[in-house]
Amino acid sequence: MIFQEIDSLSKVAKKLAIITLGCKVNQYESSSIGEMFRLRGYNLVSAKDKADIYIINTCTVTNLGDRKSRQLIRRAVKTNPDALIVVTGCYSQIASEEVLKIPGVNLVTGTSDRDKIADLVANLEKNSKVNAVIEVEHFTKYQELPSIASTDRLRAFLKIQEGCDNFCSYCIVPYTRGPLKSRSMENILAEARKLIALGYTELVLTGIHTGAYGRDMPDEISLAKLLEALLKIKGIDRLRLSSVEPMDIDDDLIELLAKGAPLCPHLHLPIQSGDDSILKAMGRNYRSGDILELVGRIRDKVKDISISTDIITGFPGESDDNFLNTLNLIKELKFSFLHVFKYSPRKGTLAADFPGQISSEIKELRSSELIALGQELSLNFRKKYLGREVLVLVEDSCESGPAMAKGYTANYLSVSMPGEDDLRGKIVRVNIDSLSEDLLSGTIIV
Ligand code: 5AD
Ligand code: SF4
Repeated sequence: MIFQEIDSLSKVAKKLAIITLGCKVNQYESSSIGEMFRLRGYNLVSAKDKADIYIINTCTVTNLGDRKSRQLIRRAVKTNPDALIVVTGCYSQIASEEVLKIPGVNLVTGTSDRDKIADLVANLEKNSKVNAVIEVEHFTKYQELPSIASTDRLRAFLKIQEGCDNFCSYCIVPYTRGPLKSRSMENILAEARKLIALGYTELVLTGIHTGAYGRDMPDEISLAKLLEALLKIKGIDRLRLSSVEPMDIDDDLIELLAKGAPLCPHLHLPIQSGDDSILKAMGRNYRSGDILELVGRIRDKVKDISISTDIITGFPGESDDNFLNTLNLIKELKFSFLHVFKYSPRKGTLAADFPGQISSEIKELRSSELIALGQELSLNFRKKYLGREVLVLVEDSCESGPAMAKGYTANYLSVSMPGEDDLRGKIVRVNIDSLSEDLLSGTIIV
């Protein structure tokens, strides 16, 4: 009897570590998977700890994502060779057999049916090799996951949809995530209310193709309509959009952004290129002129908006002139932040077979040039705030010293200031007095 109790206690105390790569959607899903195991009595530990089970939530958007995913799997096996190793996410969705062959891997699941992971793990043994990946086409409805039930942070991700129907020629994501599946508005609002009640002060809407929200629903539902409903919830200090495709920004959305708090003046518009022939080959349904017009329209209406972007360089056929067009458009648009990607051929996508693949040396040179331009633009954007008063949501104490606090403005500028721990979660007025490479510093105005 006593032995039985000890046995069940040791089961309750099993240690589980989740290692996450990639985008905000993966982060949201890892938190949900963690919650699923916590509810079953598992003890969540860090990846550095010796855990009984490691779950690696992978990414495959570029070749680097694959490589990092494999590295982290191997690292987990090395940290505890006796642990059960579970691999999930986009990389395992499309390369399940390859992943299962990695020594030490016991279970491979993809991007769907994650609510089954805990049951699958419960039946695993150290010598198991289980491939539980299901083709994404089989899933036409959004699959709910458990919502997190505790908070140690102030910002929470809120997933609103899954999948993408765009099939841009470079992108593997429609193959790893399947078609558009919007989450019901009712469930999104319920989770938002729950997160606010838990003490989160900022919600970040995430998804694979957030701008397409509602298009697969019978009623006239859109991202703007969803935002209107979310903005009615009491207690949201900040509501932030993450990435929204430029072609999905409509006047309703701009009007909402123009109204200001709690909706943050912050947009990540992944334009990918500034050259019309490359945009066409990428399968993007806009031209550089449309982006110029759109960004101008947004900036006219939304005060202090920060607009960042993703750029892919070295797309097949990208000539020096095409690249120059991209550089010039970026300079003209003065993005506040650039996320630069070197084109990575993804097997199964159209562009992987395009002629005119670019050498890695040229990709490297162009990427360095873009990164340098991004740093310059980011510095220029932040310089405008020297001497100005801003509102900062204090999130953390700052590593740079005791009694220093750190937080973000609504347009996502990182600000540090003298302040004690009791400021956490408060919105304070700060006068910006200096600027370093990636941080603004200031003093609180009382
Ligand atoms: N190669 C390089 N970057 C890519 N991205 C998507 N697919 C590829 C690819 N094959 C980038 C895009 C996208 C971001 C999430 O990843 O810029 O916006
Ligand atoms: Fe990929 Fe294009 Fe869909 Fe974005 S919109 S996920 S880049 S296919």
